[in-house]
Amino acid sequence: MNQSTLDRYKQFVIANYTRYPVCLVRGEGSRVWDDEGKRYLDLFPGWGCGLLGHCPPRVVEAVRRQVGTLIHVPNTWHTEVQAELAEALSVRTTFAGQAFFCNSGTEANEAAIKLARLWGGPGRYKIITTLNSFHGRTMGALSATGQPKYHAGVGPLVPGFVHVPYGDLEATARAIDAETVAIMVEPIQGEGGVNMPPAGYLEGLRSLTEKHRMLLILDEVQTGMGRTGRWYAHQHWNLTPDIVTLAKALAGGVAMGGLVARPEVAAHLRPGTHAATFGGNPLSAAAALATIETIEEDGLLARAVGIGERFRRFFDGLRSRCPWITDVRALGCMIGVELGVDGTAVVKACMERGLLINCTHGTVLRLLPAMNLSDAELEEGCGILEDVLVHLEV
Ligand SMILES: Cc1ncc(COP(=O)(O)O)c(C=O)c1O
Repeated sequence: MNQSTLDRYKQFVIANYTRYPVCLVRGEGSRVWDDEGKRYLDLFPGWGCGLLGHCPPRVVEAVRRQVGTLIHVPNTWHTEVQAELAEALSVRTTFAGQAFFCNSGTEANEAAIKLARLWGGPGRYKIITTLNSFHGRTMGALSATGQPKYHAGVGPLVPGFVHVPYGDLEATARAIDAETVAIMVEPIQGEGGVNMPPAGYLEGLRSLTEKHRMLLILDEVQTGMGRTGRWYAHQHWNLTPDIVTLAKALAGGVAMGGLVARPEVAAHLRPGTHAATFGGNPLSAAAALATIETIEEDGLLARAVGIGERFRRFFDGLRSRCPWITDVRALGCMIGVELGVDGTAVVKACMERGLLINCTHGTVLRLLPAMNLSDAELEEGCGILEDVLVHLEV
C-alpha cells in the first residue's frame, strides 16, 4: 500500500487496532478495491454493517438528497425522517415498539441497560448476560460483555452484571435474585463464535423473565435488520422481547444505533434520563429508511435465507475433505464455520486470493455476506474457500 498513508498512520493514529497493510479506496456491492487496484470479494463487508454491500445505490441517493437539505438537528426538534424511520422499525416488531436512536451498538446497549434499571426502580439493577457474549466497549456494555479478555486492565467494571453460560437455562434461573431486573442476550452470539441458541433456550428465557417480572433485552446489533432472513432474528422463535437493540446494518453502512422497546417499558425513558446529540439525525435516518426500502422492495429477506442455505451446503459438503471443519452454523447471512485449528492462516490465504472473510474466537471462520450477494459472487467465494481450506496445512 501507499507508503505515505502507512507513515501517517504510524505517526498520527493510535495503534489500538491490528490493521492489514491494505488501503481500501472504493467499494461497490460485495466488491472492494485497494489503492493498488486489487479487487476483493468482500464476504464480511463493514464488519456486519454492509448488509447491502458497499455503497448501496438507494442509500447513496437518499444520503445525497438529505445532505443538501438538512444534515443534523438536535432532538429538541422533530424531523419527518426520524418519525418515518421509527414507524418503519415499529411496524416490523410484534410489540408496537417505540424507538430511541444513537450512533453505535455499544450506545444502544447502554441505553437498554439504563432503561431496564429505570423500569425496575430502586434496588433492582442486576442484569444477567452470557459468557462469550459481546455487547460493546463502553463501560456499561463492556461490563455486560461476558469475555474477561476485554475487561483486562480497565476495571473496576460497572457493578450489577452476572455472567452465565449461553444456552444454560438452569444456570440462568439460579442467578436470578430479588435485585435482578433483566436478562440481556444475543439471539445468536456473533463475536463469541456464531453460536446458535439451543432448542427452547430463548423461549425459556422469556418464561423466566415473565415469571420473575424482569425484562428480556435482545442485543440484535449483529443479527438484526434482516440479516438472518427475518427483520429481527428473534422472530424465528416467535418471541416477544421487551427491548431490542440495533446498530451495524441499521443504516446501510452509515453510523447509527438504536433500540426498540415495548411502549410500557419505553415510557420510563423520560426527558432528562438519556440522550445522544447525534441520535436519529436526518442523514443516518434517511440512510436507514433507504436500507429498509431496499430490503423490502428487492425481496432480500428471502434471498438472505437462500444465501445461508447455500453456504451451509457448501461447507457441509467440504467436511469429508477437510476434517478440521468440526461444525457449520448458519442462519441467513450469518455463517460460522468451526475449525479444529486456528483460523488466522485461512483468513490470510483468502485475502491473498482476493477474498475477505473474518475469524472470530480463534477458530471460527465468520462470514457476514451482503444479502444481495449474487449467485456468481457466491460461487466465486466458495471456490476460493474450497481451495484454501482443502490445501490448509494443519
Ligand atoms: C452483538 C453486538 N453488540 C454490540 C456490538 C457493539 O457495536 P459497536 O461496535 O457499534 O459499538 C457488537 C459489535 O460487534 C455486536 O456484535
